Amino acid sequence: MRVELKNIHKHFGAVHANNDVTLTVEGGSIHGLLGENGAGKSTLMKVLSGYIHADGGEISLDGKKLKRFNSPADALRHGVGMLHQDPLDFPPMTLLDNFILGCDASLLQPRARAEKEFRELCQQFNFDLDTNAFVSDLTVGERQQLEIIRLLWLGARTLILDEPTTGISAPQKIKLFATLRQLAADGKSVIFVSHKLEDVEDLCHRVTVLRRGQMAGEAKSPFVTERLVQMMFGQQLNIGKRPNVELGAPVIEFDHLTLKDDRLTVPDISLSVRMGEVLALAGLEGSGQQLFLQACAGLLPPSAGQLRLNGIDLTRKPYENFLRAGIAYMPADRMKEGLVPGLSIEEHIVLAKRGKKDALIDWTRTRQTATAQITDFNIKGIPTTRVEALSGGNQQRTLLALLPPDLKLLALEHPTRGLDIESTLYIWGKLLERRKQGAAIIFASADLDEVLQYSDRILVFFGGRVIETVRSSETSVEQLGYLIGGKKQ
Ligand SMILES: Nc1ncnc2c1ncn2[C@@H]1O[C@H](COP(=O)(O)OP(=O)(O)O)[C@@H](O)[C@H]1O
Ligand SMILES: [Mg+2]
Repeated sequence: MRVELKNIHKHFGAVHANNDVTLTVEGGSIHGLLGENGAGKSTLMKVLSGYIHADGGEISLDGKKLKRFNSPADALRHGVGMLHQDPLDFPPMTLLDNFILGCDASLLQPRARAEKEFRELCQQFNFDLDTNAFVSDLTVGERQQLEIIRLLWLGARTLILDEPTTGISAPQKIKLFATLRQLAADGKSVIFVSHKLEDVEDLCHRVTVLRRGQMAGEAKSPFVTERLVQMMFGQQLNIGKRPNVELGAPVIEFDHLTLKDDRLTVPDISLSVRMGEVLALAGLEGSGQQLFLQACAGLLPPSAGQLRLNGIDLTRKPYENFLRAGIAYMPADRMKEGLVPGLSIEEHIVLAKRGKKDALIDWTRTRQTATAQITDFNIKGIPTTRVEALSGGNQQRTLLALLPPDLKLLALEHPTRGLDIESTLYIWGKLLERRKQGAAIIFASADLDEVLQYSDRILVFFGGRVIETVRSSETSVEQLGYLIGGKKQ
């Protein structure tokens, strides 16, 4: 099946997630869709699989024009199925129940026949799946296998896989790739969505690269890594604009720090960050940067090693101690972790007040503070505006306005993600003021231009490890692109 997407546009509020994207996938081939986080890949594939509707553009299958698919079921009836980045299966149900679930009710499949066909498909692809097991007991790789045979059984001839190599083991990846090659050899079309250069180079026949919602180019196998990197990240020159700031004494020091959550272990980080220094954490989402930031802020106790702030040991001390020591954390998920939906700007000011609390709230004074902060931080709102009614940029400004004075360290997760250029510049203006006052800044960002422009030093994370520490003045967007994709130049 030949799949064509033509001139696809999709907006989410002010974000133009797909801007005139055109893509042709030949039958019997594996087509890569490559781009960094936020490039618009998932959005485009959700359009192709009927999960969301485009604002403009058309889809054709084998030269036949369709305006759009009305639903995922509609897309599947036309032969297009998608494995989502986050599995959309039903963990408390058995594999067989999941398998049968999407099947057209008018064609009531007898269970016994479905079970037989399930087994045959498993055999065909050499999958080891038990029909009576529960999805909740499967690994991510096995859930993918189930989803693949389910979609094939329901008639998929084009299979979209969105970041399928995230969260699966190396042997599972080998098996997945073998399966996808087998499908292409059978004449099916496979669209492989990824931000990992290596995977795309390994597997795909052709690749389309998206950058910031737009098509950055196309290439055919064998690929030239350098060209792919250029298309993914563009070539912008941002170096040399930074004002020079004298670095002071160490603010935070890490001594063989090891961090763990239920998915990832980040081993053995030793490092110190000095007053006035800006340290960027680069890497693909989920490579360990978030754990590191949470550890800096005292939200994640290290499982080994030591952490000192201004020489004082804070290892495994409560969050309160970190706050008192002058550390602030700004999470990426502004509405979930940063602000409280339903509360107004002035109510946030009351909540964020540190130090001794009064028994009664002085609303007159609070409102004055709120008004002053709204002016100072250029927030488009009034003291009684609820935070969920603010735009992303104004929510971020509100978070900044809530930070106490005299901070020693700011730990920021994607400080400008999703913001327009004006807000981005404003936020960085405010952050760099803090740096001038002697604060150290540690921030994670997926935007390599931002990483290069604002940092002094960059820690590059890959798969839970710090694989490189580079000076921002001695690297480029291109080299960083290689590094965060796990490739050394
Ligand atoms: N449902 C949504 N609502 C608002 N914004 C969205 C939504 N889905 C995606 N976006 C935005 O669209 C852009 C592209 O996102 P996405 O397609 O998920 O990128 P990718 O898959 O390449 O990482 C991002 O800026 C993202 O924040
Ligand atoms: Mg995505």
